[in-house]
Amino acid sequence: MSRRIREDISIRLFDPKMITIALFLVLLYFHDQLRYSAAQLQFGFYSETCPSAESIVRDVVQQAVTNDPGKAAVLLRLQFHDCFVEGCDGSILIKHGGNDDERFAAGNAGVAGFDVIDEAKSELERFCPGVVSCADIVALAARDAIAEAKGPFYEVPTGRRDGLIANVDHAKNLPDVQDSINTLKSKFREKGLSDQDLVLLSAGAHTIGTTACFFVIPRLDAQDPTINSEFFQILRSKCPQGGDVNVRIPLDWDSQFVFDNQIFQNIKNGRGVILSDSVLYQDNNMKKIIDSYLETNQSSKANFAADFTKAMIKMGAIGVKIGAEGEIRRLCSATNYRFLAGVGGFNIIGKVKSAVERFCPGVVSCADIIAIAARDAIITAKGSFYEVPTGRNDGRISNVKNAEKLPDAQDSIATLKAKFREQGLTNRDLVLLSRCAYHRIDGMLLCHATVDFFQVLRLKCPRGGYVCFKIPLDWDGKFQFDNQVLRSKCTTPH
Ligand code: HEM
Repeated sequence: MSRRIREDISIRLFDPKMITIALFLVLLYFHDQLRYSAAQLQFGFYSETCPSAESIVRDVVQQAVTNDPGKAAVLLRLQFHDCFVEGCDGSILIKHGGNDDERFAAGNAGVAGFDVIDEAKSELERFCPGVVSCADIVALAARDAIAEAKGPFYEVPTGRRDGLIANVDHAKNLPDVQDSINTLKSKFREKGLSDQDLVLLSAGAHTIGTTACFFVIPRLDAQDPTINSEFFQILRSKCPQGGDVNVRIPLDWDSQFVFDNQIFQNIKNGRGVILSDSVLYQDNNMKKIIDSYLETNQSSKANFAADFTKAMIKMGAIGVKIGAEGEIRRLCSATNYRFLAGVGGFNIIGKVKSAVERFCPGVVSCADIIAIAARDAIITAKGSFYEVPTGRNDGRISNVKNAEKLPDAQDSIATLKAKFREQGLTNRDLVLLSRCAYHRIDGMLLCHATVDFFQVLRLKCPRGGYVCFKIPLDWDGKFQFDNQVLRSKCTTPH
């Protein structure tokens, strides 16, 4: 570089104008970094890792709402109940089998839509296994459900990871229909949501959907004076004293299927259906907020659709887990277990279950589906057909400790035999069901890898190499359901 050019560059670098520009660029960079770390989530988080993620969720939601228009409200409510416990981390989806899962909390009574989330997850696992979190599916499904109900569309920031904990006790403090206005306000404030968010998200979201009479009867029995007297009679006829608490009635009277601000008018006129909606108009500040959406003067009228979507995005960011926190569940109803490393196929079982539930809800156990799917997988691999006896019930307990007894690739032959025996299985079963243990059990030659084969394996799995790289268990016969594995060299440590 000539001296002249060098001098030119150094002069320009120390030019005050250049320093100002450089400073500005540095600040801009850090501002962006701060903005992203504060917001945590990103728009289009899956644009590179799973470009079709959002369209897959949308298709599943569209189909579900077409089959049952009530599903739109169900999916919107699901996100609220997910986000208010442990943050928006899909914890409400977990079903370990006992009654102590979060979803069984009293405050979650009637929450549904799990089948739609499971179905979307199955599809996503087919296209981008292990990439899209269940928590994000819940958020996207709520957005798409709102759009299906002709509500406003909004971009959903994504990148949530799935939680590892789901406990009924952690859902004790959900906002309740009987809560006072002050309690409701403080429960929302605890989640970083303002009074305006409370109005928009609770009453606003109730512009679609229904409630069970269970939540209405107590206020009718108590002769709640805030209910318009004519409307009181209507409600009483739908939800009579001592009547069926499961009968469902619209939350937004006369406008149940339209995503609009009619519910605010109803609340103002004493036609709110549940107490937690009506109680909002008893508070001066909340009253002003509700009235701002009912202004007749269009120029000063608050924009319900725009404000509602902002509040949804805010709610969708409560306590999110990002980066290395949590996990990406393979199945939305269960956390990924440490001891099931490498075990897959959950998405297929989830998909089969969704399909079976459509035809015979609550009839076929997941345990039977696994048994039948294993048989069908064997047939697909050109193995022989066998009838599968069915009638298994699904378990109620699922604990990581109980999986510690699984046979391990490093177990000695004695331990393997004992572990199979504990399950009522013979040595022959061990040979047939596992892999290459046959030679050792029969007292024949131990199944040492030959020198040649050792080299082949070492080449595939070099010391310090990528441990997730997969190689066939049945060398030379990997796609054939045959007994080659018994004849050939041992490819596993046992
Ligand atoms: C003050 C807080 C809230 C309370 C006390 C409350 C209470 C309720 C109750 C009692 C029901 C009837 C449930 C049933 O019978 O199945 C209901 C339904 C519903 N809630 Fe809320 N809610 C609140 C906030 C929210 C929020 C924040 C959202 C969403 C952003 C929401 C969305 C819905 C929807 C869409 C339904 C109708 C569900 C259906 O049709 O199955 N709610 N809510």
